[in-house]
Amino acid sequence: MSIKYPYQDGSRPIPERIEDLLGRMTLAEKVGQMCQMNGRDDAETWLREHHVGSFLHMLGEETNALQGVAAQTRLGIPLLFGIDAIHGHAFWPTSTVFPTQLALSCTWNPELVEEVGRITATEAAHTGVHWTFSPVLGVARDLRWGRIGETFGEDPYLVSELGSAMIRGYQGEALSAPDAIAACGKHYAGYSGAQGGRDSSEAALSERAMRSTYLPPFQAAVEAGCATLMAGYQAIDGIPCSANRWLLSDVLRDEWGFQGFVVSDWKNVEHMNDEQQVSPNLMDAAMRVVSAGNDMAMNTPRFTKLVIDLVERGELDETVVDQAVRNVLRVKFALGLFDGNRYADLDKRAETIGCAAHRAVALASACQSLVLLKNEEGFLPLAEDVRRLAVIGPNADDRQAQLGDWVQWSGQLGETGLPGRTSESVITVLDGIRARAGDRASVDYARGCNVIDPAVDGIPEAAALAAAADVAIVVVGDNLEQVGETKDRANLDLSGGQKALLEAVYATGTPMVVVLMSSKPLTIPWVVQHAQALLATWNPGLEGGTAVAETLFGDRNPSGKLTISFPYHVGQQPVYYDLIPGWHGEAKYVDMPAEPLFPFGYGLSYTRFSYSHLELASDVLTEGETLRVAVDVQNVGDRSGVEIVQLYVNDRFSSVTTPLKELKGFARVELAPGERRTVELELRCEQLALVNAELETVVEPGTFEVMVGGSSRDEDLLKDSFDVVG
Ligand code: BGC
Repeated sequence: MSIKYPYQDGSRPIPERIEDLLGRMTLAEKVGQMCQMNGRDDAETWLREHHVGSFLHMLGEETNALQGVAAQTRLGIPLLFGIDAIHGHAFWPTSTVFPTQLALSCTWNPELVEEVGRITATEAAHTGVHWTFSPVLGVARDLRWGRIGETFGEDPYLVSELGSAMIRGYQGEALSAPDAIAACGKHYAGYSGAQGGRDSSEAALSERAMRSTYLPPFQAAVEAGCATLMAGYQAIDGIPCSANRWLLSDVLRDEWGFQGFVVSDWKNVEHMNDEQQVSPNLMDAAMRVVSAGNDMAMNTPRFTKLVIDLVERGELDETVVDQAVRNVLRVKFALGLFDGNRYADLDKRAETIGCAAHRAVALASACQSLVLLKNEEGFLPLAEDVRRLAVIGPNADDRQAQLGDWVQWSGQLGETGLPGRTSESVITVLDGIRARAGDRASVDYARGCNVIDPAVDGIPEAAALAAAADVAIVVVGDNLEQVGETKDRANLDLSGGQKALLEAVYATGTPMVVVLMSSKPLTIPWVVQHAQALLATWNPGLEGGTAVAETLFGDRNPSGKLTISFPYHVGQQPVYYDLIPGWHGEAKYVDMPAEPLFPFGYGLSYTRFSYSHLELASDVLTEGETLRVAVDVQNVGDRSGVEIVQLYVNDRFSSVTTPLKELKGFARVELAPGERRTVELELRCEQLALVNAELETVVEPGTFEVMVGGSSRDEDLLKDSFDVVG
């Protein structure tokens, strides 16, 4: 490209290039940069007539063609293409689909999560995408919410650690590298705190709750260099996120120094008028959104005209528009879009997308995310003399349930003529078991029932197979009709014919292994009582069936631990582990335990670990210092395994109420049979901070209890204490 203006000169500093370009832009060209439209809706017209600077959900040659049109416009400002590459670049039909975020969180493995992000970025970048609307940084609170599976679980620290790792993976060493894409931390903020788990309903959250629980993962993301954030749909204490100046400007820009840009979620501007009813018309909504600091509006067709009118009428200062445009351009320059190296690379695409190396990481992540919840008398791995297996249940051979949300559109977007996701590319549990059983055991299969439809006519056939088998492996869970945006559930029981199917299999007397393939925890106390073993797989991605089979047969030892609590009953919601104690201590029900069925941090292995010698390097800590915490962990079983060592803290007496346990550190250790290792964890004094009544984040002097062990349950933790002084 010939260099005519300074902004086209890659050797100049980005701030200089931005100011040069901004100075040449008309008002309409500027406002176009604040707009993102759906690439399925006549994108070229939006570009030519309204100067729209970003499109979502376009892929491959389409992006190259439209980028070519943008290059011919007056200033040649390149387009930014965004997509929901949520757990893999799954809009592309041959991409590598990883386990969902909730599944990945159960690995407690930031390096692996970063690698997943790196691969997703590489696959997306080669199809012309520059930006993914991921990761979700919401802290899961209410399991009824349909998007729980998109989160990294219920703990703010773990969400921060894994979210930052994912962002590092997407963005790589430098955003300008041809295989890096911009991350988008979402949904800023408090979306996961919507009342009753109802998607996008009001989040009645205080500023203390925001600062204590919901904001820390976003602050960590900003510190990790996250290029963009997406403003949530919902309102926080009366103010929709996109119009929330406190959230978008005071906290994000003034306190945290965020340099990227904020995009609204889909139609946030319209819904301030027609749903949330805080704006009598769209003009008012646009005015509020732009003034609050929301830099780009997603899919609001009238947005460009509204903002231009506001400026021309003198109601909106053009300097506010300029600031939003600067924020958007900064990311475009950082991505190297102006320097011409970000076209979809068709050769690299063929080599990399869905390649064997990427599938190997999909398999490793599926294996590590499995959580063994019950294993009566070491029933698993399956004994050598098991010769006849019955694989039963609606999710045993269901590709969609296995892949989870945000995958269902593959094959519907992008270049015509591309095949949809092929059945060969997804290894279901049935496929995996058949492949692994080989000649060792026969495998019979019956679906038995459906996840939604309550019909029971398939159950007798399934029960007959179970009766004739040595072991029945029953794969139940939820499906896409119950997962995702607006798919909230008021009932978390196994739906359709699944409970009846399990009862019928149990009645045969054949030992039953239940594989729970669900987007999130369901209420399954009956299963826990009646199954010999229970393995939670979440939505494990395209290698999920291999991971399950290799684990059942004992080639792999499960190591995942829960990052979200399983309730006995939906009426216990919420039941996350860091609930704050009340005046009566733990809030009990007369008809239900206070504790969850399975707590945060819990998960079994085929081996056992013992903890001893918890030692703190000091019994006092002052500001700026780090405490070293050491504990001996020994593998006391007879096969090697990975243990996830967890460190919790309790601020014994504080000026405001705080949880009895808060995760502050963790480590994954692999130990051979009999091996003992001293595991060292670090606790920085500032990690002990709370948000006080004046809304300041402070560390209060006093005694802190340290708890280290293999889950958040008291019986799994060793305890000691230290004092913060000064
Ligand atoms: C979702 C976002 C998503 C966006 C773009 C919205 O419906 O809430 O999470 O990134 O659509 O697809």
